[in-house]
Amino acid sequence: MKRILVVSSANMDMVMNVDFVPVGGQTVIDKGTYTYVPGGKGANSAVAFSRLGAKCVFLTKLGEDSNGDALLSLYEKEGMDVSYIKRDKNVASGLAAILVEKTGQNRIIVFPGANSKIDLDTVTDAVASKPDALYMQFEINYDAILHAAKEAHKAGIPIFIDAGPANKDFPLEELPKVTVFSPNESETEAFTGISPIDESCCKAAALKLLERVKAEYIVIKLGGRGAYIFDGENGIIKAPYDMPVVDTTAAGDAFTAALTLEYLKSGDILSACDYANAAGSITVSRAGASSSIPNEKEIADFISSR
Ligand code: RIB
Repeated sequence: MKRILVVSSANMDMVMNVDFVPVGGQTVIDKGTYTYVPGGKGANSAVAFSRLGAKCVFLTKLGEDSNGDALLSLYEKEGMDVSYIKRDKNVASGLAAILVEKTGQNRIIVFPGANSKIDLDTVTDAVASKPDALYMQFEINYDAILHAAKEAHKAGIPIFIDAGPANKDFPLEELPKVTVFSPNESETEAFTGISPIDESCCKAAALKLLERVKAEYIVIKLGGRGAYIFDGENGIIKAPYDMPVVDTTAAGDAFTAALTLEYLKSGDILSACDYANAAGSITVSRAGASSSIPNEKEIADFISSR
């Protein structure tokens, strides 16, 4: 069983299903629904790793509040190793406000709270436990990301980065060599100025990313168009599965986690991408963040039924 260290974020998501998003100064009364569901890019991927059969060691920081209690008990229920999750009594747990329109398209505002307080000593200890891989996103304090990456690199542990959320100020050049660097469309545009609208733009963006990130593979998530994989010379778009879109939240988090785990098992990035496409396609067909992520059997059944 692969042991994956996820150093990343945890949020409680307030998900509002809305008819449309109001413009500035406008108040609308919506007949839709709202719910609180566990989310956060890191936690969504950590849930995906656990459901896909890995031992997930989740390192994050929570506030000492009721959201923190609820999130921690979910991680325990999912079978994660939570020994590196710390609590901070001076700051609230992360919160995301998510508006989901009828098309399934979402808009997310994150209040990072405790996610920006991850301390480096805990990161050092977790990496020293020698996981099979380190997996991160950009939703926590940057010094923790760079520290984890440098420690993992020194220890010869492969590093996988999901480049969300978009932040063009992240010092990509300071990262050591990573196995996979995977932005979505808007993150690709933020880092390169190129919108990956077709295969040649994907290639131009991937080449531009490789000027800044030392990566074996660039994997650009293209939403409903699948994903573009580039190995430094050749690129290919792998199409997704056709599924009704209910809510795109967490699809990218599930995709990159599934890609990471399958690649670690098989060493084949193309088949890992097919597997990840299945994970992402099932996730968009369901509502919510971590609640929408499939398990290993659901993905196997889904692939064999197609
Ligand atoms: O990627 C989806 C996630 O982004 C949500 O769960 C929300 O918490 C934000 O972190």
